[in-house]
Amino acid sequence: MAQGKKITILDLQAKKAKGERFTMVTAYDYPTALIADEAGIDVILVGDSLAMVVLGLPNTVSVTMDEMLHHCRAVARGAKNPLLVGDMPFMSYTNTGEAVHNAGRFLKEAGMDVVKLEGGRRVAPIARAVVEAGIPVMGHIGLTPQTISQLGGFRVQGKDAAAVKQLMEDASALEEAGCFAIVLEAIPDRVAELITEKLTIPTIGIGAGLHCDAQVLVIHDMIGLFDRFVPKFVKQYANVREQILAALQQYKAEVEAGQFPGPEHVYTIKDEVLAQLY
Ligand code: KIV
Repeated sequence: MAQGKKITILDLQAKKAKGERFTMVTAYDYPTALIADEAGIDVILVGDSLAMVVLGLPNTVSVTMDEMLHHCRAVARGAKNPLLVGDMPFMSYTNTGEAVHNAGRFLKEAGMDVVKLEGGRRVAPIARAVVEAGIPVMGHIGLTPQTISQLGGFRVQGKDAAAVKQLMEDASALEEAGCFAIVLEAIPDRVAELITEKLTIPTIGIGAGLHCDAQVLVIHDMIGLFDRFVPKFVKQYANVREQILAALQQYKAEVEAGQFPGPEHVYTIKDEVLAQLY
């Protein structure tokens, strides 16, 4: 476990006030959570992106509450210092009662500190109810993968004046509803800058440029583990897929050539003990 201090939503808001940027990444399992914690990442999101990058589903809509909670528990066992965000899956917050119940499960059953939900003005009353129940809420606007069919695909949002105005209204509605931070996904950088200046709560950008208060990336994208679809906004800091592939190919070749296991990987027995068997 990394030594350090548990990050709270107040720490993130203080960072915004001081003009200090912070970091968020997704994680879905214990070893990755341990590494993110050791790296000093401030916030870990157990994102519903796990549907695509871990479970191999075509989109995020079919991941269930139970699947989300299962991965959250593993992450909570590994990450002690970062703020932990459980992503509420599609159809788990269609009304306030259901939203409060399911948000509570992330905290009570899976070790999360806060929840995230997608949508702007439409979900503001739901976000308010969850906050009033004592559960901090992170908003998420712009490209919201759970409603990808309505958005017409994975595409940049906020490209014309009317759409920008709606995004600004969505951001303000979430702030007024009590959200402690908002993810801005796939919007022009100058629109993200306008929203970031307008809000007193932190903005966390993904494909939203440098002017957000924080950045988030899907870990499988940034370490090069999932390469089926790499959005323009992803920077690959490593190519782990290549390393895993090379390791597996070398292992196969060495086993087939009788080179693995070598003497250093083998348990031995004394000759005199063996002689007793003959
Ligand atoms: O599920 C997820 O990984 C997300 C991020 C893209 C913010 O919502």
